[in-house]
Amino acid sequence: MSLQILSERSVSAEDPLDLMDEIEALKKEKDASILAHFYVDGEIQDIADFTGDSLKLARDATKVTTSTIVFAGVHFMGESAKIMNPEKRVLIPDMLAGCSLADSCPPDQLAAFQDQLRAQGRDFQTVAYINTSAAVKSLVDWIVTSGNAREIIDRVPANKEILFVPDQHLGRYLIEVTGRKMILWPGSCMVHEVFSIQDLIRIKKRTPGCVIMAHPECPQNILELTDVVGGTEKMRQHVMSIEKPTTFLVATEAAMIHPLQKAAPQHTYIPVPGIIASTGETCACNRCPHMSRNTLQKVRDCLKNGGPEIEWKDYFQQARAVLDKSLLK
Ligand code: 13P
Ligand code: SF4
Repeated sequence: MSLQILSERSVSAEDPLDLMDEIEALKKEKDASILAHFYVDGEIQDIADFTGDSLKLARDATKVTTSTIVFAGVHFMGESAKIMNPEKRVLIPDMLAGCSLADSCPPDQLAAFQDQLRAQGRDFQTVAYINTSAAVKSLVDWIVTSGNAREIIDRVPANKEILFVPDQHLGRYLIEVTGRKMILWPGSCMVHEVFSIQDLIRIKKRTPGCVIMAHPECPQNILELTDVVGGTEKMRQHVMSIEKPTTFLVATEAAMIHPLQKAAPQHTYIPVPGIIASTGETCACNRCPHMSRNTLQKVRDCLKNGGPEIEWKDYFQQARAVLDKSLLK
Protein backbone atom coordinates (compact mmCIF):
# COMPACT_ATOMS: atom_id res chain seq x y z
CA MET A 1 0.00 0.00 0.00
CA SER A 2 1.44 3.40 -0.90
CA LEU A 3 2.43 5.90 1.76
CA GLN A 4 -0.08 8.38 0.33
CA ILE A 5 -2.93 5.91 0.88
CA LEU A 6 -1.73 5.07 4.39
CA SER A 7 -1.65 8.75 5.25
CA GLU A 8 -5.10 9.33 3.70
CA ARG A 9 -6.45 6.68 6.08
CA SER A 10 -4.64 7.85 9.19
CA VAL A 11 -5.86 11.46 8.88
CA SER A 12 -9.50 10.36 8.76
CA ALA A 13 -10.99 10.68 12.21
CA GLU A 14 -14.49 9.74 11.05
CA ASP A 15 -16.18 6.79 12.70
CA PRO A 16 -16.78 3.98 10.14
CA LEU A 17 -20.21 3.23 11.64
CA ASP A 18 -21.30 6.87 11.29
CA LEU A 19 -20.02 6.87 7.71
CA MET A 20 -21.97 3.71 6.94
CA ASP A 21 -25.18 5.31 8.30
CA GLU A 22 -24.52 8.42 6.26
CA ILE A 23 -23.96 6.35 3.12
CA GLU A 24 -27.21 4.41 3.68
CA ALA A 25 -29.15 7.69 3.96
CA LEU A 26 -27.41 9.17 0.88
CA LYS A 27 -28.16 6.06 -1.18
CA LYS A 28 -31.88 6.62 -0.60
CA GLU A 29 -31.72 10.39 -1.08
CA LYS A 30 -29.74 10.15 -4.34
CA ASP A 31 -31.45 7.00 -5.69
CA ALA A 32 -28.12 5.12 -5.84
CA SER A 33 -26.86 1.54 -5.65
CA ILE A 34 -23.34 0.53 -4.67
CA LEU A 35 -21.43 -2.19 -6.52
CA ALA A 36 -18.23 -3.37 -4.83
CA HIS A 37 -15.51 -5.74 -6.07
CA PHE A 38 -14.19 -8.41 -3.69
CA TYR A 39 -10.83 -6.54 -3.57
CA VAL A 40 -12.10 -3.37 -1.87
CA ASP A 41 -12.07 -3.02 1.92
CA GLY A 42 -14.51 -5.31 3.73
CA GLU A 43 -16.43 -2.38 5.23
CA ILE A 44 -17.26 -1.12 1.72
CA GLN A 45 -18.31 -4.63 0.64
CA ASP A 46 -20.60 -4.71 3.71
CA ILE A 47 -22.54 -1.60 2.67
CA ALA A 48 -22.74 -2.56 -1.02
CA ASP A 49 -25.93 -3.68 -2.77
CA PHE A 50 -23.98 -6.00 -5.04
CA THR A 51 -20.57 -7.60 -4.42
CA GLY A 52 -18.76 -10.00 -6.65
CA ASP A 53 -16.07 -10.80 -9.18
CA SER A 54 -15.69 -8.87 -12.44
CA LEU A 55 -18.13 -11.12 -14.31
CA LYS A 56 -20.93 -10.99 -11.73
CA LEU A 57 -20.57 -7.23 -11.24
CA ALA A 58 -20.69 -6.55 -15.00
CA ARG A 59 -23.90 -8.60 -15.12
CA ASP A 60 -25.28 -7.01 -11.92
CA ALA A 61 -24.72 -3.56 -13.44
CA THR A 62 -27.44 -4.40 -15.98
CA LYS A 63 -29.93 -5.25 -13.19
CA VAL A 64 -29.62 -2.05 -11.16
CA THR A 65 -32.92 -0.20 -10.91
CA THR A 66 -31.67 3.08 -9.37
CA SER A 67 -30.67 6.03 -11.55
CA THR A 68 -27.14 6.19 -10.08
CA ILE A 69 -24.47 3.49 -9.70
CA VAL A 70 -21.45 3.96 -7.41
CA PHE A 71 -18.77 1.50 -8.48
CA ALA A 72 -16.26 0.75 -5.73
CA GLY A 73 -13.52 -0.93 -7.71
CA VAL A 74 -11.20 0.45 -10.38
CA HIS A 75 -11.68 2.70 -13.40
CA PHE A 76 -12.20 0.02 -16.07
CA MET A 77 -15.01 -1.49 -13.94
CA GLY A 78 -16.78 1.86 -13.72
CA GLU A 79 -16.38 2.25 -17.49
CA SER A 80 -17.91 -1.19 -18.09
CA ALA A 81 -20.88 -0.30 -15.85
CA LYS A 82 -21.40 2.93 -17.84
CA ILE A 83 -21.11 1.07 -21.16
CA MET A 84 -23.84 -1.32 -20.02
CA ASN A 85 -26.00 1.58 -18.69
CA PRO A 86 -25.59 4.65 -20.92
CA GLU A 87 -28.67 6.29 -19.38
CA LYS A 88 -27.47 5.98 -15.77
CA ARG A 89 -25.07 8.15 -13.83
CA VAL A 90 -21.98 6.06 -12.93
CA LEU A 91 -19.77 7.42 -10.15
CA ILE A 92 -16.45 6.08 -8.89
CA PRO A 93 -15.00 7.05 -5.51
CA ASP A 94 -11.53 7.86 -6.92
CA MET A 95 -10.70 8.63 -10.57
CA LEU A 96 -7.08 7.62 -9.92
CA ALA A 97 -8.00 4.01 -9.11
CA GLY A 98 -6.48 2.46 -12.24
CA CYS A 99 -5.05 -0.98 -12.99
CA SER A 100 -1.53 -2.02 -13.97
CA LEU A 101 -2.95 -4.56 -16.43
CA ALA A 102 -5.19 -2.02 -18.17
CA ASP A 103 -2.28 0.47 -18.29
CA SER A 104 0.00 -2.12 -19.92
CA CYS A 105 -2.11 -2.13 -23.10
CA PRO A 106 -2.64 1.39 -24.51
CA PRO A 107 -5.19 1.38 -27.39
CA ASP A 108 -2.83 2.98 -29.94
CA GLN A 109 -0.19 0.29 -29.32
CA LEU A 110 -2.76 -2.47 -29.61
CA ALA A 111 -4.15 -1.02 -32.87
CA ALA A 112 -0.61 -0.75 -34.30
CA PHE A 113 0.18 -4.35 -33.35
CA GLN A 114 -3.09 -5.62 -34.87
CA ASP A 115 -2.24 -3.73 -38.11
CA GLN A 116 1.21 -5.31 -38.13
CA LEU A 117 -0.27 -8.83 -37.75
CA ARG A 118 -2.83 -8.14 -40.52
CA ALA A 119 -0.06 -6.86 -42.80
CA GLN A 120 1.71 -10.20 -42.24
CA GLY A 121 -1.47 -11.97 -43.43
CA ARG A 122 -2.27 -13.45 -39.99
CA ASP A 123 -5.92 -14.49 -39.60
CA PHE A 124 -6.72 -13.82 -35.92
CA GLN A 125 -9.31 -12.65 -33.43
CA THR A 126 -8.41 -10.49 -30.44
CA VAL A 127 -9.55 -11.62 -27.00
CA ALA A 128 -9.17 -9.08 -24.19
CA TYR A 129 -9.33 -9.63 -20.46
CA ILE A 130 -11.95 -7.33 -18.94
CA ASN A 131 -9.07 -5.50 -17.18
CA THR A 132 -8.65 -3.14 -20.16
CA SER A 133 -9.79 0.37 -21.00
CA ALA A 134 -13.03 0.90 -22.94
CA ALA A 135 -10.92 2.17 -25.86
CA VAL A 136 -9.17 -1.23 -25.98
CA LYS A 137 -12.51 -3.06 -25.62
CA SER A 138 -13.71 -1.22 -28.73
CA LEU A 139 -10.79 -2.75 -30.72
CA VAL A 140 -11.31 -6.42 -29.86
CA ASP A 141 -13.58 -9.34 -30.79
CA TRP A 142 -14.20 -10.81 -27.33
CA ILE A 143 -13.94 -9.87 -23.66
CA VAL A 144 -13.22 -12.48 -21.01
CA THR A 145 -13.13 -12.45 -17.23
CA SER A 146 -11.44 -14.99 -14.98
CA GLY A 147 -14.93 -16.50 -14.58
CA ASN A 148 -15.79 -17.15 -18.26
CA ALA A 149 -12.45 -17.24 -20.12
CA ARG A 150 -12.56 -20.94 -21.09
CA GLU A 151 -16.11 -20.70 -22.46
CA ILE A 152 -15.32 -17.63 -24.56
CA ILE A 153 -12.07 -19.06 -25.95
CA ASP A 154 -14.14 -22.06 -27.10
CA ARG A 155 -16.30 -19.65 -29.12
CA VAL A 156 -13.33 -18.39 -31.17
CA PRO A 157 -13.42 -20.31 -34.49
CA ALA A 158 -10.78 -23.07 -34.50
CA ASN A 159 -9.25 -21.79 -37.78
CA LYS A 160 -8.39 -18.39 -36.23
CA GLU A 161 -5.28 -17.48 -34.29
CA ILE A 162 -5.87 -15.74 -30.96
CA LEU A 163 -4.23 -12.51 -29.88
CA PHE A 164 -4.75 -12.42 -26.10
CA VAL A 165 -4.32 -9.10 -24.24
CA PRO A 166 -3.09 -7.86 -21.81
CA ASP A 167 -2.32 -10.50 -19.13
CA GLN A 168 0.51 -12.81 -20.19
CA HIS A 169 0.07 -15.06 -17.13
CA LEU A 170 -3.68 -15.58 -17.57
CA GLY A 171 -2.99 -16.10 -21.30
CA ARG A 172 -0.34 -18.75 -20.61
CA TYR A 173 -2.72 -20.52 -18.23
CA LEU A 174 -5.50 -20.43 -20.86
CA ILE A 175 -3.16 -21.93 -23.46
CA GLU A 176 -2.60 -24.78 -20.98
CA VAL A 177 -6.30 -25.41 -20.24
CA THR A 178 -7.76 -24.84 -23.72
CA GLY A 179 -4.92 -26.18 -25.89
CA ARG A 180 -5.30 -23.13 -28.20
CA LYS A 181 -2.25 -21.33 -29.56
CA MET A 182 -2.14 -17.66 -28.58
CA ILE A 183 -0.06 -14.59 -29.22
CA LEU A 184 0.38 -13.05 -25.75
CA TRP A 185 0.62 -9.36 -24.89
CA PRO A 186 3.35 -8.83 -22.26
CA GLY A 187 1.16 -7.27 -19.50
CA SER A 188 0.82 -8.36 -15.88
CA CYS A 189 -0.91 -7.47 -12.62
CA MET A 190 1.40 -5.74 -10.15
CA VAL A 191 -0.24 -7.61 -7.24
CA HIS A 192 -0.41 -11.16 -8.59
CA GLU A 193 3.07 -11.02 -10.07
CA VAL A 194 4.89 -10.51 -6.78
CA PHE A 195 3.74 -13.34 -4.51
CA SER A 196 6.64 -14.82 -2.64
CA ILE A 197 7.24 -18.39 -3.77
CA GLN A 198 9.63 -18.92 -0.82
CA ASP A 199 6.99 -17.86 1.71
CA LEU A 200 4.38 -19.99 -0.01
CA ILE A 201 6.62 -23.10 0.22
CA ARG A 202 7.52 -22.29 3.84
CA ILE A 203 3.89 -21.80 4.95
CA LYS A 204 2.80 -24.95 3.07
CA LYS A 205 5.51 -27.01 4.84
CA ARG A 206 4.46 -25.87 8.28
CA THR A 207 0.69 -26.22 7.59
CA PRO A 208 -0.06 -29.90 6.95
CA GLY A 209 -3.27 -30.51 4.98
CA CYS A 210 -3.51 -26.90 3.73
CA VAL A 211 -5.01 -26.11 0.32
CA ILE A 212 -3.38 -23.50 -1.93
CA MET A 213 -5.77 -21.33 -3.98
CA ALA A 214 -4.36 -18.90 -6.56
CA HIS A 215 -5.75 -16.49 -9.12
CA PRO A 216 -4.79 -17.28 -12.76
CA GLU A 217 -3.18 -13.80 -12.96
CA CYS A 218 -0.30 -15.38 -10.94
CA PRO A 219 2.84 -16.53 -12.75
CA GLN A 220 3.44 -20.19 -13.64
CA ASN A 221 5.79 -20.91 -10.68
CA ILE A 222 2.94 -20.09 -8.23
CA LEU A 223 0.27 -21.97 -10.23
CA GLU A 224 2.47 -25.09 -10.34
CA LEU A 225 2.19 -25.34 -6.53
CA THR A 226 -1.53 -24.53 -6.52
CA ASP A 227 -4.40 -26.93 -5.74
CA VAL A 228 -7.27 -24.68 -6.90
CA VAL A 229 -6.68 -22.17 -9.73
CA GLY A 230 -9.57 -19.77 -10.19
CA GLY A 231 -10.91 -16.25 -10.15
CA THR A 232 -12.33 -14.76 -6.99
CA GLU A 233 -15.87 -16.19 -7.36
CA LYS A 234 -14.50 -19.66 -8.06
CA MET A 235 -12.46 -19.40 -4.84
CA ARG A 236 -15.60 -18.43 -2.92
CA GLN A 237 -17.60 -21.31 -4.39
CA HIS A 238 -14.79 -23.73 -3.59
CA VAL A 239 -14.51 -22.85 0.12
CA MET A 240 -18.32 -23.07 0.45
CA SER A 241 -18.27 -26.57 -1.05
CA ILE A 242 -16.02 -27.92 1.73
CA GLU A 243 -17.54 -28.51 5.16
CA LYS A 244 -14.48 -29.79 7.04
CA PRO A 245 -12.49 -26.90 8.58
CA THR A 246 -9.46 -26.45 6.32
CA THR A 247 -6.56 -24.02 6.11
CA PHE A 248 -6.42 -22.19 2.76
CA LEU A 249 -3.34 -20.32 1.57
CA VAL A 250 -4.76 -17.58 -0.64
CA ALA A 251 -2.66 -16.11 -3.48
CA THR A 252 -4.75 -13.15 -4.55
CA GLU A 253 -5.48 -9.60 -3.33
CA ALA A 254 -5.68 -9.75 0.47
CA ALA A 255 -9.14 -8.10 0.76
CA MET A 256 -10.50 -11.35 -0.75
CA ILE A 257 -10.16 -12.93 2.70
CA HIS A 258 -13.24 -10.90 3.78
CA PRO A 259 -15.81 -12.53 1.42
CA LEU A 260 -14.19 -15.95 1.93
CA GLN A 261 -14.54 -15.63 5.70
CA LYS A 262 -18.14 -14.47 5.35
CA ALA A 263 -19.05 -17.32 2.98
CA ALA A 264 -17.30 -20.14 4.87
CA PRO A 265 -16.27 -19.07 8.39
CA GLN A 266 -15.34 -22.62 9.44
CA HIS A 267 -12.01 -22.36 7.57
CA THR A 268 -8.73 -20.56 8.27
CA TYR A 269 -7.42 -18.25 5.53
CA ILE A 270 -3.79 -17.23 5.23
CA PRO A 271 -3.01 -14.53 2.64
CA VAL A 272 0.22 -15.31 0.77
CA PRO A 273 2.58 -12.33 1.22
CA GLY A 274 4.15 -10.42 -1.64
CA ILE A 275 7.86 -9.85 -2.10
CA ILE A 276 9.94 -6.83 -3.12
CA ALA A 277 11.92 -8.38 -5.97
CA SER A 278 15.06 -6.25 -5.71
CA THR A 279 15.56 -6.71 -1.95
CA GLY A 280 13.90 -10.09 -1.40
CA GLU A 281 11.92 -8.61 1.52
CA THR A 282 8.34 -9.66 2.21
CA CYS A 283 5.91 -6.74 1.84
CA ALA A 284 2.20 -5.87 2.05
CA CYS A 285 2.01 -5.58 -1.75
CA ASN A 286 -0.72 -8.24 -1.79
CA ARG A 287 -3.04 -5.19 -1.40
CA CYS A 288 -3.79 -3.53 -4.73
CA PRO A 289 -2.86 0.17 -4.39
CA HIS A 290 -5.65 1.03 -6.85
CA MET A 291 -8.41 -0.92 -5.10
CA SER A 292 -7.16 0.55 -1.79
CA ARG A 293 -7.98 4.05 -3.02
CA ASN A 294 -11.62 3.23 -2.29
CA THR A 295 -12.51 4.33 1.23
CA LEU A 296 -15.82 4.81 3.05
CA GLN A 297 -15.16 8.57 3.07
CA LYS A 298 -14.74 8.66 -0.70
CA VAL A 299 -17.87 6.57 -1.23
CA ARG A 300 -19.77 9.06 0.96
CA ASP A 301 -18.19 12.07 -0.79
CA CYS A 302 -18.91 10.87 -4.32
CA LEU A 303 -22.55 10.23 -3.38
CA LYS A 304 -22.77 13.68 -1.79
CA ASN A 305 -20.99 15.54 -4.62
CA GLY A 306 -22.31 13.53 -7.58
CA GLY A 307 -18.76 12.90 -8.81
CA PRO A 308 -16.26 11.87 -10.01
CA GLU A 309 -18.42 10.57 -12.85
CA ILE A 310 -17.66 8.32 -15.83
CA GLU A 311 -18.66 10.27 -18.93
CA TRP A 312 -19.98 8.52 -22.06
CA LYS A 313 -17.55 8.48 -25.02
CA ASP A 314 -18.32 7.65 -28.68
CA TYR A 315 -16.26 4.45 -28.71
CA PHE A 316 -18.29 3.05 -25.76
CA GLN A 317 -20.93 2.02 -28.35
CA GLN A 318 -18.55 -0.44 -30.07
CA ALA A 319 -17.22 -1.65 -26.70
CA ARG A 320 -20.84 -2.29 -25.69
CA ALA A 321 -21.44 -4.66 -28.60
CA VAL A 322 -18.38 -6.70 -27.60
CA LEU A 323 -19.27 -6.73 -23.88
CA ASP A 324 -22.88 -7.73 -24.68
CA LYS A 325 -22.00 -10.72 -26.82
CA SER A 326 -19.20 -11.84 -24.45
CA LEU A 327 -20.79 -11.41 -21.01
CA LEU A 328 -24.53 -11.37 -21.50
CA LYS A 329 -25.21 -13.85 -24.30
P1 13P B 1 -11.97 -11.41 -10.73
O1 13P B 1 -12.64 -10.97 -9.48
O2 13P B 1 -12.88 -11.39 -11.89
O3 13P B 1 -11.31 -12.74 -10.55
O4 13P B 1 -10.88 -10.28 -11.08
C1 13P B 1 -9.67 -10.16 -10.47
C2 13P B 1 -9.03 -8.84 -10.66
O5 13P B 1 -7.86 -8.72 -10.72
C3 13P B 1 -9.85 -7.65 -10.73
O6 13P B 1 -9.04 -6.58 -10.88
FE1 SF4 C 1 -5.47 -4.39 -11.72
FE2 SF4 C 1 -4.15 -6.23 -10.35
FE3 SF4 C 1 -5.30 -4.22 -9.06
FE4 SF4 C 1 -6.83 -6.12 -10.21
S1 SF4 C 1 -5.42 -6.41 -8.51
S2 SF4 C 1 -7.12 -3.89 -10.31
S3 SF4 C 1 -5.59 -6.63 -12.00
S4 SF4 C 1 -3.60 -4.04 -10.54
